Amino acid sequence: MKALITAGGRGTRLRPLTHTHNKHLIPIANKPMLAYAIEAVRDAGIKEIGIVTNADNQDVQTAFGSGKEYGVKITYIPQSAPLGLAHVVKISQSFIKDEPFIFYLGDNMLVGGVAKFIEEFKANKSNCHLTLAKVKDPERFGVPELKGGRIISIEEKPKKPKSDYAVAGIYLYDESIFEAVNAIKPSARGELEISDAHQYLLSKKKKVTYSEITGWWKDTGKPYDLLEANRLVLENQESMILGKVDDASHLSGKIVIGKGSKIINSVLRGPLIIGENCVIEDAYIGPFTSIYDSTVVKRSEIEFSIVLKDCRIEDVGIRIEESLLGNDVQIVSASKKPKTNRFMLGDQSRVEVV
Ligand code: G1P
Repeated sequence: MKALITAGGRGTRLRPLTHTHNKHLIPIANKPMLAYAIEAVRDAGIKEIGIVTNADNQDVQTAFGSGKEYGVKITYIPQSAPLGLAHVVKISQSFIKDEPFIFYLGDNMLVGGVAKFIEEFKANKSNCHLTLAKVKDPERFGVPELKGGRIISIEEKPKKPKSDYAVAGIYLYDESIFEAVNAIKPSARGELEISDAHQYLLSKKKKVTYSEITGWWKDTGKPYDLLEANRLVLENQESMILGKVDDASHLSGKIVIGKGSKIINSVLRGPLIIGENCVIEDAYIGPFTSIYDSTVVKRSEIEFSIVLKDCRIEDVGIRIEESLLGNDVQIVSASKKPKTNRFMLGDQSRVEVV
């Protein structure tokens, strides 16, 4: 069995972070989002992974290389334009050949791994095994119509959903999927939709089965989804303190502090993670916060946030919450006269002031 993981697309709903970052490389609890997908398929025993990337960018290749570090063998498959998930499957046929495979959308995060879905796919001898999750907003997803424990139809982002389930981005296929992705035509938005390929299999009376995801699952399309995914991963982490914490500081909850970081006269309330070579001084870092390497937080308070590398947060008078900061971002007190708010923001930045 092989795995095919998506890591392309433009991540438009996560701008400005995605102007400079491939969405799949945004760290969740200080680890690139894509690493969770790779580890999930590896932990289910799959060693051969195809990763589909944007043809015009090598960042994913640079980050994951041959896959050796993760104990897998990665083949990169470039996609020339975002032409849909069924197009991703179509261009990957020469990598997959006629083996069964798991198709994993690299921006989906879930708890509990994927081994049980693979087992059910095999036990049912299915042509296609889907994973379904109950959601409040099915119109954002592929939506199945269910009857007597079976899927009878599937629609992509329907205006009037026929169930309150989303088809999650973890799919299992045998070679029948290639007939489907080669037969379907682009949708109104110009993409080869994976839901249309599933509907094709249903119409050809292929065996389409499903598992329900009962635990935590998230398609991390929007900023708040990243914060939620970060919260979930942090909740499940174990404490590890490699940096230095002075006696005046107070730590509680699950906390990870990387090598070379210094915590001085601060309150840290986990779960949270601080990367390497950070300085946290006279500060409060609250639950569900990830701070990446070489960032400085002084005389400021922050919680439920993701802060990337080389940032500086100093003398900010009001607690920062529910925020996403890219690399080399500075939020500092206005020391110059006149005392006023000064912004230097890139395209599509978002700031809320009180
Ligand atoms: C894609 C699929 C959709 C599926 C979803 C799961 O949507 O087209 O059928 O339910 O992934 O994450 P997208 O996230 O590309 O809008």
